[in-house]
Amino acid sequence: MAAMASAGSSTPFTGTSAGTQAPWKRAAVGANLLSPSGDLGVTIFEEMTTLAVSTGAINLGQGFPDEDGPAEIKAAAQAAIAAGANQYAPGKGVAALREAVSAHQQRFYGLAPDPENEVLVTTGATEAIAAALLAFVQPGDEVLTFEPFYDSYGAVIGLAGATHVTAPLLAPDFMPDLATLEESFSSRTKIVLLNNPHNPTGAVFPESVLSRIVELAAKYGAIILSDEVYEHLTFGVPHIPVTTLPGAAERTITISSAGKTFSFTGWKIGWLSGPADLVASVRTVKQFLTYSSGTPFQGAIAVGLGLPDQFYTGIAETLRHKRDILAEGLRAAGFSVYNPSGTYFINVDTSPLGIRDSVDLARRLPGLVGVAAIPVPVFCHADGAERTRSLLRFAFCKKVDVLEEAAGRLATLKDRL
Ligand SMILES: Cc1ncc(COP(=O)(O)O)c(C=O)c1O
Repeated sequence: MAAMASAGSSTPFTGTSAGTQAPWKRAAVGANLLSPSGDLGVTIFEEMTTLAVSTGAINLGQGFPDEDGPAEIKAAAQAAIAAGANQYAPGKGVAALREAVSAHQQRFYGLAPDPENEVLVTTGATEAIAAALLAFVQPGDEVLTFEPFYDSYGAVIGLAGATHVTAPLLAPDFMPDLATLEESFSSRTKIVLLNNPHNPTGAVFPESVLSRIVELAAKYGAIILSDEVYEHLTFGVPHIPVTTLPGAAERTITISSAGKTFSFTGWKIGWLSGPADLVASVRTVKQFLTYSSGTPFQGAIAVGLGLPDQFYTGIAETLRHKRDILAEGLRAAGFSVYNPSGTYFINVDTSPLGIRDSVDLARRLPGLVGVAAIPVPVFCHADGAERTRSLLRFAFCKKVDVLEEAAGRLATLKDRL
């Protein structure tokens, strides 16, 4: 999915709470897509992709892989289509996938969600996020996320008419300040929308951060909605699902998706798991958004979730190698590189090159060296945009030869500025 930015402006627009705007406008404002004068902008991804195409640049802006996932998963989907699995799936999802999700949670985290009423299949993680927010928040409620934040969070919080409160993640390791985190909570905090591993920063939160979130969510009576779509894409650090921590399970819904783990972003198969009462509430909303989707793909992803452990360690190792190739080129370009512990995004600080405005550099970069990236301020409200003004995000979920070419091009940047 795309992060949004307004075309023709160098800083994003501030997200706001409900007010009297039409719902679509609240969604647009929440995703930094609407200017104060009411003009609808284009996504920064659209803008960067157009630029990449017109300049022949390598597009490291958008976060989707340029190679398909495992052949056996594709074959399973093809076989399912041929066998006639082409009508509506059950609203809660194909049983084989719900069972596979439960077995996956058991295998990797020692959890045992009941496939019948503690697992729900969704149309990508995006629908899980939307259905959960729409299920629980109303105008006046606050939803807390870290900042920078994935763009769909701002959009749906806006759509729900809630207030989007953010707590900053601070460079160089993009961790929150635990001493002040409580200041972002209030009696109106309804949901803590956590993203771990974190897009766009690549941070993977350790137990100390997660347990403080659980403590504060419990103190303020908030639900934790944990978006863990990059759960298997970590480099040398463990992914800890927040729901495994003491006191968390009763208030936590965990979201994941086939898009990132299996490189089938176009299939839009996601899922969530959590306590039966919370899952039932989300299911009530979800059934009127899409009811269900992707019948043959759901069964195929069940096959994927059953792949042996080597598959999972293999994807992380491959990605770590790709990260290192790109990091090298970014260092050679003269940027300060923040090495991510997870996801397939890497952030750099452009200020060592004397550049203060990453939005401006992102617009010039395709022309300068033939590589496109995304400025981090578009993932922020106004204060966060100021704080991250010199940061750029590059995606490294691309073929090795593409990344080597991009790294070589980036290494020439210093001479071209
Ligand atoms: C943090 C995060 N959550 C959710 C999604 C969307 O997942 P899906 O494609 O399964 O809807 C993405 C995709 O980029 C993401 O980065």
